[in-house]
Amino acid sequence: MTWTPASWRGFPARHIPTDYPDPSALLAVEQRLAKKPPLVVASEIEKLKAELARVSKGEAFLLQGGDCAESFAEFEADRITRYFRVFLQMAVALTFAGGKHVVKVGRVAGQFAKPRSEPTELIDGVSLPSYRGDNINGAAFTPESRIPDPERLIEAYNQSTASLNLLRALATGGYADLENVNRWNLKFAKKQGKASAEYLKLCHRIEESLEFMDGLGLSGPAGIATDTVDFFTSHEALLLGYEEAMTRQDQLFGSGAYYDTSAHMVWIGDRTRQLDHAHVEFCRGIANPVGVKCGPSLDPDELLALLDKLNPKNEAGRIVLIARFGSDKIAQGLPRLVRKVTEAGRSVVWSSDPMHGNTLKTASGYKTRPFERVASEVNDFMDIVRAEGAYPGGVHLEMTGDDVTECTGGATPVTEESLASRYRTHCDPRLNADQAIELAFTIAHGLREGRQQRRLAAAGL
Ligand code: PEP
Ligand code: CO
Repeated sequence: MTWTPASWRGFPARHIPTDYPDPSALLAVEQRLAKKPPLVVASEIEKLKAELARVSKGEAFLLQGGDCAESFAEFEADRITRYFRVFLQMAVALTFAGGKHVVKVGRVAGQFAKPRSEPTELIDGVSLPSYRGDNINGAAFTPESRIPDPERLIEAYNQSTASLNLLRALATGGYADLENVNRWNLKFAKKQGKASAEYLKLCHRIEESLEFMDGLGLSGPAGIATDTVDFFTSHEALLLGYEEAMTRQDQLFGSGAYYDTSAHMVWIGDRTRQLDHAHVEFCRGIANPVGVKCGPSLDPDELLALLDKLNPKNEAGRIVLIARFGSDKIAQGLPRLVRKVTEAGRSVVWSSDPMHGNTLKTASGYKTRPFERVASEVNDFMDIVRAEGAYPGGVHLEMTGDDVTECTGGATPVTEESLASRYRTHCDPRLNADQAIELAFTIAHGLREGRQQRRLAAAGL
C-alpha cells in the first residue's frame, strides 16, 4: 500500500480524540500548521540517526528524558534552563563512566499529547472526559476545560518553537561548558549523604581529565570543543493530525524522503503500537528515528512484524526499542524479546524506560514511583540485555530540573507524606533534579564497573 503523510487516516486509531465540537475547525488549524516553519530539519534528523546507529553498535549511549507532559502553565525560561542543566549533569557522568559518547535526546519541545487509561475521570460523583494533554484540552476539572480545542495545537507549536530556540542557544552558547557542568556535579556530590564519596571521586577524575586535556593543549579555541553539545528533541507521535501537518518532503538533499519536522525523533506508545493501526502506518513512512515502547503485552513475533513494517531495510539508527516492563516484570518479559530480535539479526537500539511500569497509587491517592524500583529496573535491564548478547544502549526517563515531590525515595528521600508539598506534574510522576542526577550516577557506577571487569578479563586477571 502506498504511504502518504495522510494515509494513516484510513486505519483504525486509538487515543486520538474524535470529539472536537467542530471538526472543520480542527482541519483548518492543521492546514495552518502545515504552512508553518519546521521545528527541525532533515540534516539534523539524519545526524541523530547516525548517532543512534553508533549506539546500536555499542559505540555510544542514549540519554533520553524530560517531562511526562509539557504544559502551558509550566512554560518558563528558567524551568527549561534548569532541566537542561540537570540533563547535562547526567550526560557528563554517563559519558565519563561509560567511556562513550552520550547521545542527548530531550522529551521536550513537543511532548504534550497523552494516551489515557480511562476515557473519563470521576471526582466526587462527577464524571468528565479525561485530560489528554495541553494540546488537546485543559487539566482543570470543569466541563468547559475538558472540551478539545484545536487552537491548543497552535499554542503547543508556538511553545515548542520557543523552547527549542532556548535549548539550541543553551547547547551551543557556552552554557554546556564541561567545566561548568562538572562544577555543578561537584556541588551535587557534596550534599549527597552516604554516596557522596563515590560521586566525588567521579567528579575529581573528570576534573583531572580536563586538566590533562588542557596540559596536552587539546582544549581551548583550537582544540576539542568542550562547550558545545548536540541536543535533539523527541515526543510521542500520538496526535497524528499534528504530526502529518509537520511532515515535509525533503527539498534540500533531493532524497524525496518525508521527515516529521516536529521533532528529531518520535516514538509509538505502548497503547498505540498495533500492527494494522494508524500510528504504525504513519511512522513507517517518515524517515526519522522511531521509538517503540515495549511492554509486557508485546509478543516477540509481533515485535519482529513491527520491525518488518517500520524498518524493512534494517537501517541502523532507525529503531529504538524502549523496554518498559516494571521492576517486577522485566526478568520475565524482556529476555525473549531481546533474544528474538538478536537472533533475527535486526539492528536496533535497546533502551530502558524504568518509569512507566513502576507507577503506583498511594493511600492518599497520589500516583508515584519509588526511586528504588526505577533504579532496580534499569539495573536488571542492563544485565538482561547483556546476558542475551546484545548491548544495553540507553535510558528513557521522566524527569525535571525542579525540586518536585512526585517520586518517592532517593538519597534526599521524598516520603509518601511529603508528596503533597510540591506535586506539580500534569500527568505521570517525574524524577526531581536530585533523583535524576542520582540515577545517572548510579547507572554511571554500573557502567564503570562493567568496563573495569572487561579490562581485567582482557588482561587475563
Ligand atoms: C509515556 O512515555 O508517557 C507513555 C505514555 O508511555 P507508554 O506508552 O510506555 O505507556
Ligand atoms: Co508518562
